[in-house]
Amino acid sequence: MSSVSDNIKAILSGIPLGISVEKRIERLAGVEAVDRGFVAKHAISVANTASEIARSIGMNEREVDDLAYAVRWHDLGKLAIPDEILRKPARLDDDESAIMKSHTEAGLVLIDGCAPGLLRDVVLYHHERYDGNGYNGLKGEKIPLPARITAIADVHDALMENRDYKNPLTEECTLELMTRDNPGFGRYAFDPFLLRKFISLRLDDAELRFLPHDFDYDRLAELIGDIHPYLWLDSAEHLRETLRIELKYVRETLDMYRERPLEFSPAGMRM
Ligand SMILES: [Fe+2]
Ligand SMILES: [Fe+2]
Repeated sequence: MSSVSDNIKAILSGIPLGISVEKRIERLAGVEAVDRGFVAKHAISVANTASEIARSIGMNEREVDDLAYAVRWHDLGKLAIPDEILRKPARLDDDESAIMKSHTEAGLVLIDGCAPGLLRDVVLYHHERYDGNGYNGLKGEKIPLPARITAIADVHDALMENRDYKNPLTEECTLELMTRDNPGFGRYAFDPFLLRKFISLRLDDAELRFLPHDFDYDRLAELIGDIHPYLWLDSAEHLRETLRIELKYVRETLDMYRERPLEFSPAGMRM
């Protein structure tokens, strides 16, 4: 298996020195198009969701466009991750996880230090978690706002997407997981203001329905038991129990969001 640094070297060997960041990204997009179309599909979807969140907090169209461009390339570092790891149809071991995590740093090397701060922030910090449990341990508002927006859109898409190592989740399950009152995975991972705005947006979607009361927990546990790297729960049984306990709380929380849509307040903005 080739190493990440070898892959970076190979990719960069095809890119002339001294070209603009945009031209550089065009070249990288060419590499992505060869056999990493699934990375592009995910990134475009995350950029669209991030744009919706950005608009909902009052960013103007210029700011939304800049953010969407940066988010489109948030996972560029995955170009340097060996296929055997990126598409492994099973849970990654510790060494493989460490290699996978290096995609943020790899992305930074690929886009080059001259890239605008917004792009660098999104590439490097999109796996930070509001509670400090992300890749670099940045916490709360120390995480740049564009990266906090990306994190929500990224997790939402990753959970709902069909990947080599997991089945897609419904949006109902996805939102339930993202809002769980659980320090390991759930609402504490995200900026609470942005999460609330995001949930409000999704609740506006008429298609969205919540889990029926006779929901099949065993099936859900089976579906998400293999999700990597977003779940820390170690067994289907553990997950099932956790869901049983928390579902009532989550329902109430989501109902609250539905009944009391958040008014936009500039004081709540953290640009
Ligand atoms: Fe990523
Ligand atoms: Fe991503």
